[in-house]
Formats: sequence, structure tokens, C-alpha cells
Amino acid sequence: MKNVDIVVGLQWGDEGKGRIVDFLSSQYVLTVRFQGGANAGHTVYVNGKRHVFHLLPSGILHESSKVAIGAGVVLDMEVLANELQTIKKEGIDIDNRVFIDKRATIVLPFHKLEDELFEMQENGVGSTKRGIGPAYRDSYYRIALRADNLTNSETMQNILDRQIAFSRTILKQYEHAKMPVKTDILDYINKFAHVVIPLLSDISIMLYEYNRKGKMVLMEGAQGALLDIFLGTYPYVTSSHTISGGALVGTGIGPGNIREVFGVFKAYCTRVGKGPFPTEIKGETGKNIAEIGDEFGATTGRARRVGWLDLPLLKYSVFVNGVTALIMTKLDVLENFSTVKVAVSYNLDGKSFNIISPTRRNLTRAKPVYREFGPFTNVKNAKSRSDFDRGTKEFISFIERETGVPVKFISIGKDRDKLVS
Ligand code: IMO
Ligand code: MG
Repeated sequence: MKNVDIVVGLQWGDEGKGRIVDFLSSQYVLTVRFQGGANAGHTVYVNGKRHVFHLLPSGILHESSKVAIGAGVVLDMEVLANELQTIKKEGIDIDNRVFIDKRATIVLPFHKLEDELFEMQENGVGSTKRGIGPAYRDSYYRIALRADNLTNSETMQNILDRQIAFSRTILKQYEHAKMPVKTDILDYINKFAHVVIPLLSDISIMLYEYNRKGKMVLMEGAQGALLDIFLGTYPYVTSSHTISGGALVGTGIGPGNIREVFGVFKAYCTRVGKGPFPTEIKGETGKNIAEIGDEFGATTGRARRVGWLDLPLLKYSVFVNGVTALIMTKLDVLENFSTVKVAVSYNLDGKSFNIISPTRRNLTRAKPVYREFGPFTNVKNAKSRSDFDRGTKEFISFIERETGVPVKFISIGKDRDKLVS
């Protein structure tokens, strides 16, 4: 029984996955985050009120649906505790609705410190400084503290001894780094573990049971395909598998359970942090799109870089994710511009490519070739796609033809109901 749908980002993150998950999640019994951590910033507007989630799945606003954090997530307990408190204050019932996989990796203060100090060097990647890279490193090095270790003090102490000793060897390279002290780390853990422990669960067994009962589950990706650790613009990527395959390894389900893969992309592109960005718009137009689109990071407040839609890279993302339905966001932002450009191919070494993989070598040498669309009118007030003008319709059909995948929904404003099909 195919009872799992996946939502993933197809660009460099911030595609609007949060609002799409919020929109879809009432139709699912469970929404699951499968990778990343508090580096994500998923924004949902309901009746003009802004909610930002870094760790809690964006399905949390629908009381009829449960939420879970899978084994592939690196868990910042402090952020989680704050988000739970905020949501409770807003009057949303969270009792018996939030579950955390026992195998999730715990992010500790020295991970964040390592991340910050690394970023201060010349070779930083422009991370969110949430300790994501160092926490995943400890997991792959097989020395990480995992959520179920919080319940056994002796095991926890042994793990911490090794982990702290290792972190010290890293931090020693930095002149003024404050070395982690075990008692401080234990104090930190004690402050938040009581929030996490009651929520511990086995998410793959939970998924097994929902599968047997034929109940639909939604997976919520963080970041985007071009930030995937293996398949993105390495080294300017995050440290996890952001593509649909990440939902399998990050929660414990097989590919036979997947029904739809929803690929979310903006009608243009943005990127936060360093790394190649061939369609980046330098100058006034870029600034205007950033301003109208409110392109400031929900996690770090950093201004996002802005560029035109990049079809060769979009095709790549559609393929690596196995996208079955596209969802376009922020089309309304482009309504104000006389021309809207789309990169349709790349010229590289005298050849033309209509799909390209995002290696540094490719993206620093290839030159995008653009097609112009627009101006787009009658976007914001449309009730359905058929209300758009001819040029806007052609822009959308062009993307569908090129990718071979239908655009199922289009967002034309911030609020929950500003989605058309
Ligand atoms: P959502 O889920 C956009 C970027 C950072 C940096 C790189 C590595 O909101 O789309 P990290 O802290 O993960 O080690 O940083 O990845 N990045 C994001 N960019 N949206 C995100 O999440 C991001 N999460 C990480 O800016 O370039
Ligand atoms: Mg974001």
C-alpha cells in the first residue's frame, strides 16, 4: 500500500515548503520531518499571523494530525522546547500529537560553537551556525548522543566523555575557543531532556502500523535538492540528504510505500550563504524582487540572493527526486516586472545543455541562455489558473512541457488560502 507522500524543495531551500505542508497536512494522519535540523525555517501565514518552524513539522497547526521527527534529524532540544511552548501558548493542543524518533541525533552546544568558529574562517560555507555539520559528523563518526541515550545516565556520560574529547581536538585549532566542560553540557541536557523524553517513540514502527492500516502520511523535507550533501553544489551544501530518498533513510520506510513526490519551487530562485548561482540577478531588479518577495532568511535574517528560474537545474532536481507533481510558489512576486527571464539551457565548452548537474565546475563555467516571459498580470486576484493572462499561462505550461511534470498548485500570496490550481 502506497501511503506516503513527500514534499521536497527543488532549489536552494526557502521554496515555501512550510506553507505547502501546512496546506496539505490536514489530509494526512501524520507529518514527519526526516532530515536537517534547526537550520530550516518554515514559515506559515494563517489569517495574517506568521508562524516559523525550525524543527516542528509544519503540520502542527492542524490539531487533527500528528507530527513526528525522524531518525535522520539532528535535534536541537532548546529550539524544540521553545517551539512547543510557543505553539501551546497559541492555544494549539499538542498532547499526544508530537513524537520523536529514539534514534535522532542530539545537537549539543559544542557543535554550534564548532560551526560558528569554522564559519569565521575564510573557507566557511555560509552555514546557519546551528551546529548541523558537526552534529552529523559525530553521527557518521559513530560517537553521537542519540535521543534514547537521554534516558540512561551511565550510557550518556560515557558517550559525552568521548564526544567532548573529540570536540576539544577540533576546537583546539581556534585561538580563543572556550573548551566544552562536561558539567556544563550535563546542565544543558538536564534543562531540556525532560521535554524530549516523554515524546520518544519508534517512528519506523509507527509508520509500519499506519501502512498496515492504510493511513496517509506526509514527509516534510527541509532545504532543497541543490543543497543535498552528495548531489548539490558541494561544498556549499548542507550536511544531510535533502532529496526524496532522504525521507526513506531518515525515517525507515522503503520506496514501495511512496505515492507522490511533490516538488516545490519558486517562480524565481533564491540562495542564502555562499556558492555558485549562475542565474543570480545583480543590481536593481534583484533587489526589487528580494524586497517584494520578502527574501530574508527565517532562521538567520540574512538577505537572500535572488536569481531567475533555472530550468536546466530544475530538471535535474525533478529527476533526482522522482517528482510526480510540481508546486510553484511566489508567482505573485513577479507580477510587478515588465520582463521575467528563465534560463532554458546552458552553454558549456561550445555545447548546449538543457539539463545540468550542479557541480562547482559546471556552474562556474556554464553560461545560461534565457527566454523572456511577461509581464504577468492578474496573478494576485486569480481564483484559478484559468484566470491568468496568456503569457503567465504560457510560462507555466512551458515549465510543465520542459520538465514533463504537471504543476498542481501555484501560490499567489502569503496566506494559507492563496493557492490556486
Ligand atoms: P529551509 O528548510 C535555505 C544553507 C545555509 C548554507 C548551507 C549550509 O528553510 O529551506 P547549514 O547550517 O545547513 O550547515 O548551512 O545551507 N541552508 C539553507 N538555505 N533554506 C534552508 O532551510 C537552509 N538550511 C541551510 O544558508 O548555505
Ligand atoms: Mg527557510
